[in-house]
Amino acid sequence: MAPSSSLATPITITNTKGRVLIVGATGFMGKFVAEASITTSHPTYLLVRPGPLISSKASIIKAFQDKGAIVIYGVVNNKEFMKTILKKYEIDIVISAIGAESLLNQLTLIEAMKSIKTVKRFLPSEFGHDVDRADPVEPGLAMYKEKRLVRRVIEESGVPYTYICCNSIASWPYYDNCHPSQLPPPLDQLHIYGHGNVKAYFIDGYDIGKFTMKVVDDDRTINKNVHFRPSTNCYSMNDLASLWENKIARQIPRVTISEDDLLAIAAENCIPESIVASITHDIFINGCQVNFNIDGVHDVEISNLYPGESFRSLEDCFDNFVLMAADKIHKGETEVTGTKALVEAVPITASC
Ligand SMILES: NC(=O)c1ccc[n+]([C@@H]2O[C@H](COP(=O)([O-])OP(=O)(O)OC[C@H]3O[C@@H](n4cnc5c(N)ncnc54)[C@H](OP(=O)(O)O)[C@@H]3O)[C@@H](O)[C@H]2O)c1
Repeated sequence: MAPSSSLATPITITNTKGRVLIVGATGFMGKFVAEASITTSHPTYLLVRPGPLISSKASIIKAFQDKGAIVIYGVVNNKEFMKTILKKYEIDIVISAIGAESLLNQLTLIEAMKSIKTVKRFLPSEFGHDVDRADPVEPGLAMYKEKRLVRRVIEESGVPYTYICCNSIASWPYYDNCHPSQLPPPLDQLHIYGHGNVKAYFIDGYDIGKFTMKVVDDDRTINKNVHFRPSTNCYSMNDLASLWENKIARQIPRVTISEDDLLAIAAENCIPESIVASITHDIFINGCQVNFNIDGVHDVEISNLYPGESFRSLEDCFDNFVLMAADKIHKGETEVTGTKALVEAVPITASC
C-alpha cells in the first residue's frame, strides 16, 4: 500500500522536538497521547487505518488535523509500508496505543523499526500494569502474554523502548467496562470488590498523555518501565465509594462483589468484559498495583522523575463526573445512562 498523507505538499518543520508517530490515536488511550503530543509541540503524525470511519472517529481525526497533526493512512502490520513512512517522515518516536485485539500487529512494526534503525524510542501499547509482574487469571492473562511477547521482541530488536505502566484510569472501576472514565460512577449501587481496602492508582487520562510525552524526551527512561504511582492518587474501592457519596451528598448501597464473583465473570470468557473482570480481580483482590516495590534497575517512578509536577486529583476528576451525572442526580434517578456497565443490579453470573 502506498503511503498517503493528508497534506499534498511536503511540510517544512523547524521544530527541534522529535517527530512522533502515534498508532491508535482514534482509540480511548491514544486520544490522550495524541492530544498531549500536539500540545507539547512535537511534530505529530497519526497512523489511521484506511476505510470508512464512523463519524465520531472522523471528528477526532479532523480535530487533531486542525491542531496540526498529519494523518497517514495505513496499518502497522505492513512492514514495507511502515519502513517507508518511518523513513519518509523521519520519525524519531513511535507510540502505539493499539487496541487489545491487535497487539501482535506490533511485531511487524518492530521488524520495520529494527531494519531502518533510526527510531530513537518506541512505546508499545501498554498503558496499564507491569505485565511481567502482574498475573491475572484468563482471559486477561492471554492479553498480558501478548504484551509480554511484544516486550521480548522489542528488547531483542535493539530499538530503545519505554513501557508506560500508568495503572488505572481515573474513574469508577467498573468490572466490565474497558473505558470506564467515559461514565460517571453508579447512582444505584456501588460494587465493592472483596473487602474493598486494597489500594490502586487512578490517573487522569490527560495526565497519562502529558507524562507519556515527558517520558519520550527523557533519557532517564530509556529501556525502563515507568510506573505511575503518585501517592495523592492512591485509593481503595471504599475510599472511592466515600469520595463519590460525598460529592453527590447521597448514600448509595454498597454491594460486595466477591473474589469468586469476579473469577466467575472472568471464566465466562465474554470478550472484552471477562478480560476487564480478570484484571479487576488482579487489582482489587491480588493488589497487583501495590504488591511489589519499584527497586529494579529497569524501573523508574514518575513522581521521582518529575517531583515538581502534580497530578490531577481524584477530587477534581469526580467533580467532572458529578457534572456528567448532574441531571440524574438532581432528579433523584439512579441509572446513569443506558449502559451495560451499570449492570442493572445484575446477577453476577449473567452470561453473554
Ligand atoms: N489503564 C487503563 O485503565 C486502560 C484502559 C483502556 C485501555 N488500556 C490499554 O491502552 C491500550 C489501548 O487500548 P484502547 O482501549 O485505548 O484501544 P481502542 O480504544 O480499542 O483503540 C485502538 C486503536 O488502535 C487502532 N488500530 C487497531 N489495529 C490497528 C492496526 N493494525 N493499524 C493501525 N491502527 C490500528 C484503532 O484504529 P481504528 O480507529 O481503525 O479502529 C484504534 O485507534 C491497550 O494496551 C490497553 O490495554 C488501558
